[in-house]
Amino acid sequence: MPGNGNRGVVYEAPGKVEVHELDYPGFELKDGPGVNPANVGRKLPHAAILKVVATNICGSDQHMVRGRTTAPAGLVLGHEITGEVVETGPGVEFVKTGDLVSVPFNISCGRCRNCKERKTGICENVNPDRPGSAYGYVDMGGWVGGQAEYALVPYADWNLLKFPDKDQAMEKILDLAMLADIFPTGFHGCVTAGVGPGSTVYVAGAGPVGLAAAASAFLLGAAVVIVGDLNKERLDQAHSFGCETVNVALGEPRDQIEQILGVPEVDCAVDAVGFEAHGHGRDAAEEHPATVLNTLMDVTRAGGALGIPGLYVTGDPGARDEAAKQGSLSIRIGLGWAKSHSFFTGQCPVMMYNRRLMMAILNDRVRIAEAVNATPIPLDAAPQGYHEFDEGAARKYVLDPHGVLAGAA
Ligand SMILES: NC(=O)c1ccc[n+]([C@@H]2O[C@H](COP(=O)([O-])OP(=O)(O)OC[C@H]3O[C@@H](n4cnc5c(N)ncnc54)[C@H](O)[C@@H]3O)[C@@H](O)[C@H]2O)c1
Ligand SMILES: [Zn+2]
Ligand SMILES: [Zn+2]
Repeated sequence: MPGNGNRGVVYEAPGKVEVHELDYPGFELKDGPGVNPANVGRKLPHAAILKVVATNICGSDQHMVRGRTTAPAGLVLGHEITGEVVETGPGVEFVKTGDLVSVPFNISCGRCRNCKERKTGICENVNPDRPGSAYGYVDMGGWVGGQAEYALVPYADWNLLKFPDKDQAMEKILDLAMLADIFPTGFHGCVTAGVGPGSTVYVAGAGPVGLAAAASAFLLGAAVVIVGDLNKERLDQAHSFGCETVNVALGEPRDQIEQILGVPEVDCAVDAVGFEAHGHGRDAAEEHPATVLNTLMDVTRAGGALGIPGLYVTGDPGARDEAAKQGSLSIRIGLGWAKSHSFFTGQCPVMMYNRRLMMAILNDRVRIAEAVNATPIPLDAAPQGYHEFDEGAARKYVLDPHGVLAGAA
């Protein structure tokens, strides 16, 4: 019941998350673990409170839970939120109680220069430290995470995407739950890599973002989609919907790409791995954070583009060398320069794509939940879900705080 408390997933220590009692959200940002002091006391008349219907575990959460960031103990996790509006602040004009909505993981104001240019991943008004913010994330201003029974969304009129018909939406709710992050993120990776009809595409990483990128590449008309990983189960998942696969543990992708395409190059490439990348071939057991970026330059044709949704950090306490601890990696920029490559990095501006991808889902043009193997689990099973995901399960775990997905699945 609204007003009667809340429960959610809390980061405790590296490798450890727990479900705790939390405060029910209010229309003011309170102090707490990870909340930027400049954000404490911020008034939120423009916010809506959601009863969370689905909230997914993400590889981005794993960077924090593995202890690879400066996330403080007590941080409430969760940035992939789908829910029903149960309360609106006095400044909310169009969103109504009862609306079933998707929440872009980027928190944005709709008023700053970047938002006006639809660059909602780098909003200037929501994170006192730097442009760009997300729910439940380290260094993102301290907005409370949404892996919980209830969550607060600021600038609700601007941020929320309403599903046109609630009954129709509940039938596809596991697909629609992917609109908060990974489907737009994978799609953005492909759009920025220049994927179009007839393209050949290499997607590094067969985690949920890589699989979403692969499904997006097909939606954009790609001729051949090749997915690389070193996790056999995840490669099988990619193969299940028509992707070719490359096992990077067997060596550099260029040789396996040549066997598939007849040439060792693709038109477009997407990095869905990020800074915790493993090496290739004999180096596969170790982390080599620049490997994927260097490989993408190696296998992308001259004049091609690299979409880089995979996350890179400005500080990595767990890095193997001093430079990488500061976020400096050994990138072969000379190779990219020689091939006139374009690079697109950063948070996906979810709002740029979520409405169109919702329409593709509702009209049966794509089966994103199936592609990423979306798997609902109870909120209380979150610690186990985090553990299995970290072990490399070929699943996208979707927390079900009110027990409504079990029936829908
Ligand atoms: N830019 C954005 O807006 C955005 C949004 C969501 C997620 N992300 C980032 O995208 C990345 C992927 O997310 P995810 O949820 O799929 O994570 P994940 O950890 O589940 O998947 C990463 C996969 O990469 C594989 N891998 C490791 N080294 C590799 C290599 N050299 N070549 C190919 N595959 C390799 C791993 O085995 C794993 O399966 C993460 O870095 C995440 O933070 C970014
Ligand atoms: Zn995410
Ligand atoms: Zn803004």
